[in-house]
Amino acid sequence: MAAENHHLLLLAFLLFFQAYGHETENSGHYPIVISTWPFVEAVRAAWAAVDGGSSAVDAVVEGCSACEELRCDGTVGPGGSPDENGETTIDALVMDGVTMEVGAVAAMRYVKDGIRAARLVMEHTGHTLLVGERASAFAISMGLPGPANLSSSESMEKWTNWKNNCCQPNFWKNVIPADGCGPYQPGDRGNTCSKDNWVGVIELKSTHVERHNHDTISMAVIDKVGHIAVGTSTNGATFKIPGRVGDGPIAGSSSYADNEVGACGATGDGDIMMRFLPCYQVVESMRLGMEPKLAAKDAISRIARKYPNFVGAVFAINRRGEHAGACHGWTFQYSVRTPGMDDVEIFTVIP
Ligand SMILES: *[C@@H]1O[C@H](CO)[C@@H](O)[C@H](O)[C@H]1NC(C)=O
Repeated sequence: MAAENHHLLLLAFLLFFQAYGHETENSGHYPIVISTWPFVEAVRAAWAAVDGGSSAVDAVVEGCSACEELRCDGTVGPGGSPDENGETTIDALVMDGVTMEVGAVAAMRYVKDGIRAARLVMEHTGHTLLVGERASAFAISMGLPGPANLSSSESMEKWTNWKNNCCQPNFWKNVIPADGCGPYQPGDRGNTCSKDNWVGVIELKSTHVERHNHDTISMAVIDKVGHIAVGTSTNGATFKIPGRVGDGPIAGSSSYADNEVGACGATGDGDIMMRFLPCYQVVESMRLGMEPKLAAKDAISRIARKYPNFVGAVFAINRRGEHAGACHGWTFQYSVRTPGMDDVEIFTVIP
């Protein structure tokens, strides 16, 4: 008799767990939209899509696309972050956490729809990443508008001021000439501006790693059936050396999703962060049982141990909808919309 009771208890327990497991698939938790920074309109756009029944992938594309159109903070979409030649280029990524398919474009010229181009790569090719002018040609051939001038009067003005400040700050090191603009050659002198521009240099250097130079949109969506997707869109680092590609289009770096576990989005100093694949790290840590908060902190601290001066942040979200952020070198904010919220809510994370 006692043994039978035990069996009944076990059965009840299993049924409870099954019900509970089912509930997390399909309940009031979903859908969820989460994004780096207070890109409220982008989150609203993704929410409208996913709440209306769109898939996670389509909602991510709608959300990031809204940011491209709004030119969020000048670092997403056209018209921002001029390179050394004054040109704006686009990096973007989309990832389907169900199939682990990824589509991405990098250093794409003349086409402003980064995330849509990324989705075309994912859905219509067996490739993962297309780059440069060949990415532009692909995107246009598949129906996206272009070729278009991606510069704006603001990006041109920023670039002109930079030229007038002998191209400072920039991303060169150990080159000759040390002063002013290139062409540069390898050499062991540091790259500093001439002394009469010294004050201007210091002022610009301090803004080199600030938010408006690095604030990528990375977004994760869990749709109504519990499918997870992520996306990233950025126009990269301001005054980058032409050809530079950062973490934006790199799966596992700027964002990552696995339906079995959860998702992550990153923002910050992409040149550094892409050496650590922080979002892959976050998702894999959660797979091993870490809470989102600890997983996020761990991924950031791995970078900070090697690069104490780096600036960056990640958000982490698991399948249960639990989310957290971690950051280094700046105060980070991320945006969330769930069924329990009246509108997008902003979460602030202190380093
Ligand atoms: C592109 O647009 C910028 C800003 O409006 C302008 O200064 C530049 O001349 C344009 N470039 C071309 C090739 O039309």
